[in-house]
Amino acid sequence: MHGLALLVAGAALLSGVAAHPEHEISSSELNRRSVLSRRCESSVAAMNKRRWAKRNEKRAVSGNATWNIVTESPYYETIQNDTCVLSEDITAGPYIWPQSQTLRQDIREGEPGVPFILDIGVLDVETCEPLPDVLVDIWHCNATGSYSSFTALSPNTPFEQLLKELNKTATDDLHTDTTTFLRGIWPTNSEGITEFTTIVPGFYVERTLHIHVQVHENYVIRGNGTVASSNTISTGQLFLAEDVSQQLMALEPYVTHTQINRTTNVVDSIYADQAVNGYDPIVSIEPLDGENIENGIIGYITIGVDSASKKKLKRSLKH
Ligand SMILES: *[C@@H]1O[C@H](CO)[C@@H](O)[C@H](O)[C@H]1NC(C)=O
Ligand SMILES: *[C@@H]1O[C@H](CO)[C@@H](O)[C@H](O)[C@H]1NC(C)=O
Ligand SMILES: *[C@@H]1O[C@H](CO)[C@@H](O)[C@H](O)[C@H]1NC(C)=O
Ligand SMILES: *[C@@H]1O[C@H](CO)[C@@H](O)[C@H](O)[C@H]1NC(C)=O
Ligand SMILES: *[C@@H]1O[C@H](CO)[C@@H](O)[C@H](O)[C@H]1NC(C)=O
Ligand SMILES: *[C@@H]1O[C@H](CO)[C@@H](O)[C@H](O)[C@H]1NC(C)=O
Repeated sequence: MHGLALLVAGAALLSGVAAHPEHEISSSELNRRSVLSRRCESSVAAMNKRRWAKRNEKRAVSGNATWNIVTESPYYETIQNDTCVLSEDITAGPYIWPQSQTLRQDIREGEPGVPFILDIGVLDVETCEPLPDVLVDIWHCNATGSYSSFTALSPNTPFEQLLKELNKTATDDLHTDTTTFLRGIWPTNSEGITEFTTIVPGFYVERTLHIHVQVHENYVIRGNGTVASSNTISTGQLFLAEDVSQQLMALEPYVTHTQINRTTNVVDSIYADQAVNGYDPIVSIEPLDGENIENGIIGYITIGVDSASKKKLKRSLKH
């Protein structure tokens, strides 16, 4: 796990933080991924249908009359091909810190922000079957751009400058503390679905709003809830649509983050790497109360794990 984490972090820095690098993914690879991301449409649709049905069941039980989304909402029609096939090798970023990723679904620890229930489905795009009991691992910054375990690093200082100030390189250990907020891991259920309770992330310098995600198989959890060992089969980032970000970032406490301008999806280099050829790394959202996203959101995304690149990754790690 640790070797992999470092490898992934290093690769992310090369492709993500260096100023607007050329994309290194070949066109045949892009085509292959495009085919993969589309071939499971009907399985994704079936999976989403079950998730919506389950959600509405829960709502019915909670009995609050203001929660009135029905299964047949028109929105449902648009998520049928909403599969995000994450590539495994570009985007874990410098703030990956497995030591602070603990087994829990509610990762808020009191961080203020718009409530966010994030429903993540995991599907093997080779077989179009859901992947049960794989560990989903998420981490993201707080409403003003700070990551736990790195809270002494300014979210407003460009990364290259930060490294210079610290006299460090991108592969050095940059962590500053042992805080764990907004980090968590939880396995998928028998239908390949897991869920986290968090807040909508804020932003930090040079990056659009995003949530880091990894998927692990054959995992072993320590007594303190962190991963002792695993095979990481997918690494990527999830995003929100620009209109949603714009609306939510106008709210407290996000709106207090005025030291830097927010980077948007279209100019974010990592978004550009992921949102290609049929990938859809944007989380589909609905208001938690059925009415206003400013009161909280539910997000749905299906991550397609690509077994072929998984094998490739395992091979490359042997070198
Ligand atoms: C429904 O939600 C409102 C507002 O949050 C709350 O005051 C009320 O107690 C809830 N009712 C039920 C039955 O949960
Ligand atoms: C999703 O499917 C709909 C209907 O089949 C189609 O119109 C749309 O272009 C598809 N979107 C993507 C991103 O493939
Ligand atoms: C869990 O234990 C590992 C190994 O001893 C340690 O490195 C890590 O910091 C601990 N994490 C938490 C959150 O307790
Ligand atoms: C985000 O975390 C940093 C570092 O812990 C903290 O100073 C800041 O107040 C937090 N932001 C909010 C909105 O609470
Ligand atoms: C920066 O770090 C390197 C390697 O640890 C060290 O040799 C060098 O003296 C440091 N420079 C400054 C200015 O601290
Ligand atoms: C944000 O962008 C505006 C418009 O380009 C510019 O005037 C302003 O100085 C920027 N603010 C910061 C903090 O960079």
